[in-house]
Amino acid sequence: MDYKNIIFQIEEQIATITFNRPEVLNALNEASLKEFSHAIDKVAGDGDIRVLILTGAGDKSFVAGADITEFLKFNALKAKIFSEMGHGIVNKMQELPIPVIGAVNGFALGGGCEVVIACDFIYASENAMFGLPEINLGIIPGFGGTQRLSRLIGKNRAKEMIFTGKMIPASEAQAMGLVNKVCAQDQLMDEVLNVAKIIVSKGKVSLRGAKQAINTGMDVDLKTGCRIEIDAFAICLASPDAKEGTQAFLEKRAADFKGGLHE
Ligand code: COA
Repeated sequence: MDYKNIIFQIEEQIATITFNRPEVLNALNEASLKEFSHAIDKVAGDGDIRVLILTGAGDKSFVAGADITEFLKFNALKAKIFSEMGHGIVNKMQELPIPVIGAVNGFALGGGCEVVIACDFIYASENAMFGLPEINLGIIPGFGGTQRLSRLIGKNRAKEMIFTGKMIPASEAQAMGLVNKVCAQDQLMDEVLNVAKIIVSKGKVSLRGAKQAINTGMDVDLKTGCRIEIDAFAICLASPDAKEGTQAFLEKRAADFKGGLHE
């Protein structure tokens, strides 16, 4: 597939998807969603990629939501299909076995906010703004926002954002735990790449185990979550990476993780 609405790059085992319609603040039309979905499949099928970064083209916007101009032609059935498509893509991204980092370089509104809150964590530039403004259009979030935002920042804060449609700046989003780090605009990608490179140096099996244990554990009771952790721990410990990691510690050298479950 030729990408026209996103840019897909891989460098040093780090893949980057850049939403690339800056003339409309990278709003997601159906074509960009299809390309995004295709790129996620490519990441899922490439065992060499260790981290995925999402960002937006330009210095004003990550993604300013779904493309509102396409809504006019929707009836209820088309809206349902569109929402299901969005959910499918966001779920698929969230379930990638590798860490996904959101690099929010401006507006993350509506679908843009919904995509980025499904990332494993977010770094944002000082000018970033987060919001679910769908209420202003007479609709509600349709790519998981009512569900993920409540789980991330708490039910009442999510309700206030969704009921008022107001945008919050990066500093406030950080105070709520939505954003891990706020960076100067021109430092954002360097900061994200720095943390991505640290993650790339870790073991593939243990990263996968940690991500799955945390994500699955958040959706179940504590006791079940702890069982999930026990199983993931056992799988990690039986991996060649665990042997290498412990041996490297004892030999006072840096570990050279190869990934893989069996020798
Ligand atoms: N869908 C389609 N086009 C969009 C868009 C979206 N979600 N968001 C922005 N654009 C377009 C604007 O229509 C404008 O196009 P134009 O130059 O042809 O008029 C262009 O992007 C630039 O946006 P503009 O509104 O002029 O920039 P701004 O700095 O004044 O305002 C926002 C920025 C983000 C506050 C404003 O664009 C906005 O509210 N966008 C909609 C956000 C939204 O409701 N998202 C949820 C959708 S479900």
